[in-house]
Amino acid sequence: MCGIIGIVGKEAVSDRLVDGLKRMEYRGYDSAGVCTVHGGQLVRRRAEGKLANLVQVLKSDDAPGNIGIAHTRWATHGAPTTSNAHPHATQEVALVHNGIIENFKQLRDELTARGRTFESETDTEVVAHLVSEQVEAGLAPADAVKAVLPRLRGAFALAIAFRQFPDFLIGARLGSPLVVGYGDGETYLGSDALALAPLTQKIAYLDEGDWVIVTREGAQIYDKDNNPVTREITTSGVSAAAIEKGNYRHYMQKEIFEQPTVVAQTLSSYIRPLEQTVALPQMDFDLAGVKRITIVACGTSYYAGMVAKYWFETFARVPVDIDVASEFRYRDPVLEEGGLALFISQSGETADTLAALRHCKEQGQTIAVVVNVPTSSMAREADLLLPTHAGPEIGVASTKAFTCQLAVLAALAAHLALVKGKLSAEQEREIVRHLIEAPAALNAALAHDEDIAAMAHLIAPARDVLYLGRGPDYPLAMEGALKLKEISYIHAEGYASGEMKHGPIALIDEAVPVIVLAPSGPLFEKTVSNMQEVRARGGKVVLISDAEGIEEAGEGCLATIEMPSVHPLIAPLVYAVPVQLLAYHVACAKGTDVDQPRNLAKSVTVE
Ligand code: G6P
Repeated sequence: MCGIIGIVGKEAVSDRLVDGLKRMEYRGYDSAGVCTVHGGQLVRRRAEGKLANLVQVLKSDDAPGNIGIAHTRWATHGAPTTSNAHPHATQEVALVHNGIIENFKQLRDELTARGRTFESETDTEVVAHLVSEQVEAGLAPADAVKAVLPRLRGAFALAIAFRQFPDFLIGARLGSPLVVGYGDGETYLGSDALALAPLTQKIAYLDEGDWVIVTREGAQIYDKDNNPVTREITTSGVSAAAIEKGNYRHYMQKEIFEQPTVVAQTLSSYIRPLEQTVALPQMDFDLAGVKRITIVACGTSYYAGMVAKYWFETFARVPVDIDVASEFRYRDPVLEEGGLALFISQSGETADTLAALRHCKEQGQTIAVVVNVPTSSMAREADLLLPTHAGPEIGVASTKAFTCQLAVLAALAAHLALVKGKLSAEQEREIVRHLIEAPAALNAALAHDEDIAAMAHLIAPARDVLYLGRGPDYPLAMEGALKLKEISYIHAEGYASGEMKHGPIALIDEAVPVIVLAPSGPLFEKTVSNMQEVRARGGKVVLISDAEGIEEAGEGCLATIEMPSVHPLIAPLVYAVPVQLLAYHVACAKGTDVDQPRNLAKSVTVE
């Protein structure tokens, strides 16, 4: 959360800093700012709200200079105002920060007692003052940073500029990601490779505790003990073109429509279509010996994990515990020896999930991750990396990452069942055949886009919406509700349909639309009974089912959305599409900011 970028360049940097921020707006968009070093001064420009406001400020009041830092903010400490916008600065030092300085109160009291005054409510400003104190006392910038870093508790990625030193920036990371980009006579710092995509693809990922001096000629990296180190320079696969909106109105819409392609792309790494077998990467641990799986994730990724729990238990008969990451560590979970801990994350950087991963590692669990960013912290700290190949996901509401996660998790469940001897070769072939059908089924689901757009006005005026589903469609109901509330700001809840009569049924009246996810199959009749309970109380039902299901139970519904008939295994992938499209079109009907909904950020790197 929050994106940072720094450029030590050969020519003016302010436009390029802003362009980098544009690529990181998914990390937050509460305020933005830049600071360059020019003519012996720190030139700082900031604006609250979206990046467009900063662009306006810079139009009338540019920030000249060939070296600078910039920031896009997701507010933690202090309201999203201009005075709380980064960069934070003193006379000598300006810096941008992603993360949280947990001991900032104590540091602030200490600094105040020494006579320093603060102009913001942020935790970050204390770091600017601490470094500045050292510089004012005559220390060289690197020594100043070295002295201050051990005093900071919490998580940070920092980029620091110095008034008197226009030839370098200093960066540091602990807990929050930071990369160094190598250009031609220029060097960059950024929260991720995406931010630097148009500038360079030559990227080094800093390790935990690293700090770095960045000059035009390159970068000198030091580890947490201040030893000079080298970090491998890799070629980032992120191309600038992959993050364009194309002909779509919103990134979210583009990403929804990319699903058949990216799910196929992802599956091609996990199945051999000709042999009809699953093909997982080499594992240097005994998967067959795994007795229990602990799944931890947040948000949409958590719902993918909930679907996977059904698969792991049904196919492989391995018991699964699943938690949201923010709760996991604090309930002091009992982790069995020989357990596999599985973390699911689009970004691979979500702070709660990463902290849970490290906790499990300390407890001797084998760590597997399903992530969309193969260079992310989670990817680099895992024993088993299972990448999704969804491509960059920019829309804050996750869509294509979810279906790709499901594709990987289905293949993993099948593989686990195989090595556990719970699946015959014929059953494996059958599962693979169904997975191969998924991209075409996703296409068929997307063909209903216009029907869903046409019925969005039925949902848009609602204040509350309920989503119901059973079995693997229960997490889908929660995912549908999450999508709707995230981008249309309508209160929505996802319920296990059988649980509705234990409370939520009291909410049912004509004003509360109920979206029922009920593919034909073993659970259909029971879900439909729950649907009838809603209808008997005047509730308005939108039934999402296949032709058979709609034929059987669609009469009298407010609306129906027809999905292709698919095997129950791939139903969660396919039924993700209508709930995504419904949320998207309702948000469009309400005129909300689909790609950047209020208060949210895509990559949540604070606890
Ligand atoms: C944020 C995003 C969600 C996402 C969640 C987990 O809340 O808005 O869309 O599902 O983080 O992110 P991750 O990158 O770990 O999947």
